[in-house]
Amino acid sequence: MRAMGVDEAFIGRLVETFYGRVLAHADLGPVFDARLSGRWPEHMEKMKSFWSAVAFRSGAYGGKPVQAHTGVADLTPDLFPKWLALFAATLDDIAPSPEAKAWFMATAERIAKSLTLSLFYNPALDDPAKKAG
Ligand code: HEM
Repeated sequence: MRAMGVDEAFIGRLVETFYGRVLAHADLGPVFDARLSGRWPEHMEKMKSFWSAVAFRSGAYGGKPVQAHTGVADLTPDLFPKWLALFAATLDDIAPSPEAKAWFMATAERIAKSLTLSLFYNPALDDPAKKAG
């Protein structure tokens, strides 16, 4: 992480910048704000400890991401590519190195995929009988 230029200060900057842009985003902003209204400072602290736990294996985050997203009103699968695009644009602007951007993107994409599967996966859609030739 250090070799990529990633430290706690960068994680703080990333979280602040990214969620600032999330809030200003036409589709993402309302979904986040409806759930987090009045609790933004707490969310920001949580996200900093989350990223720092993943990046530095610090164990600072002990939450349950899947549960946290269940019941978020209007959270639809199409929002995930938008989240990832905004995260990529943020990293383009502030990541300390291309390696840092690549690491944060790969990690976010993996988690986004796993959240999408946990929240939306429907085995019926994989039914071979329903797949056209
Ligand atoms: C469109 C996509 C997403 C939306 C709308 C969304 C929305 C939210 C909201 C509203 C919360 C706050 C839940 C609460 O405290 O009541 C939350 C928490 C969280 N999100 Fe997301 N999220 C998205 C994608 C992601 C992705 C891709 C990641 C991983 C990189 C992620 C990681 C987390 C984590 C770690 C928490 C804190 C969980 C806890 O309470 O411990 N989210 N998200």
